[in-house]
Amino acid sequence: MTLFTSDRLRGIEKTLIRQVNDRANASSINLGLGELDFPTPAAILEGVATGVRSWPMGYTANAGLPELRDLIARRSGPGLTADNVCVTIGAEEAIFAVLMVLVNAGDEVLVPDPGFPAYESIVRMAGGTPVAYILPPDRGFTLDASELERRLTPRTRAVIINSPHNPTGAVYTGEELRHVAALCRKHNLTALSDEVYRAVIFEGRAESLSEHYERTVVVDSLSKTYAMTGWRLGWCVAHPELIRLLGTFNQLAISCPPAVCQRAAILALEGAADEEMSRNMGELKRRRDLAARCLKESTGLAFRVPRGAFYLWADVSARLSPSRTSLDLALELIERENVVVIPGAAFGRAAAGSIRLSFAASPANIEEGIRRVGRFLGRA
Ligand SMILES: Cc1ncc(COP(=O)(O)O)c(C=O)c1O
Repeated sequence: MTLFTSDRLRGIEKTLIRQVNDRANASSINLGLGELDFPTPAAILEGVATGVRSWPMGYTANAGLPELRDLIARRSGPGLTADNVCVTIGAEEAIFAVLMVLVNAGDEVLVPDPGFPAYESIVRMAGGTPVAYILPPDRGFTLDASELERRLTPRTRAVIINSPHNPTGAVYTGEELRHVAALCRKHNLTALSDEVYRAVIFEGRAESLSEHYERTVVVDSLSKTYAMTGWRLGWCVAHPELIRLLGTFNQLAISCPPAVCQRAAILALEGAADEEMSRNMGELKRRRDLAARCLKESTGLAFRVPRGAFYLWADVSARLSPSRTSLDLALELIERENVVVIPGAAFGRAAAGSIRLSFAASPANIEEGIRRVGRFLGRA
């Protein structure tokens, strides 16, 4: 039998993050996945358990429940209304939908390197060409508008930025964002600002590009903020015309996000879980400090203490060679020490000399996992 498939996915694979995680087993110490090990906040579980008996459970509007869209709009900035909001199945579908709506065949989209690998694959699936801009390690992975400008061509249509940043934990300053806003304005570009880690910040406040640039599409979700990855609930905030097209996309792709998850989002955004969240953030900060101390003591690898998100980004370039990539090293770590870390190669070409370790795991797993990484590197 000949199985006919489209060209659209040719050469596109599941990201290396998933491929490495798929090698882990139930007994592995997983410092790989970008997922907090906290449960869904109790107040949200209780609210859903009670509400589900009376909530309407039919289809909702394609762009989401009006009251949820209104709530997101009010939290997102002055002057915004429900017409600026489309609810999606996690940030992942939001990014997919936005790029499907924005990108024509041959259009170029600037993506960060290192950066979340789905950007590049989704740009390709939408028919566009991803063009990497480098976040320089020697300058703390800062966002440099002149580096973006060097990558522009007449085909550049959009820029994707992500702050707090996965995988480095960098948080962009107002000044960096203002320079990017000026560049986008000058070249008439749309900016997609992935802000899923905006609430996961250990010092100060993370600014949004939308505070500086009117043509920003903000993407966010419940996943990282509320430890609700499996609820698959996200959204984007943008110009009403773009939102209208996203509503059409939603109708054809998903009909609507699950009604019960939208109701859970209303509970979350109305503040039901705020106390538990701030306790979680305190705990996450302790885990960051624990992970940083363990990594320093057990491995001696160079890394920066991250200001946001929940990853340590460590330089292993001295342990690599042309015949031993960061992927080889990550696979050896699983095989010999049963510890999962993500190879830098998952995040781009310029990132291949690093590994990403998540400190969203339990303190016991952080300590034991990093101890094993140290033991492995000591022998390797
Ligand atoms: C930078 C970034 N954007 C988007 C996502 C997707 O998040 P969601 O669970 O909301 O789809 C992730 C998940 O790891 C991420 O790290």
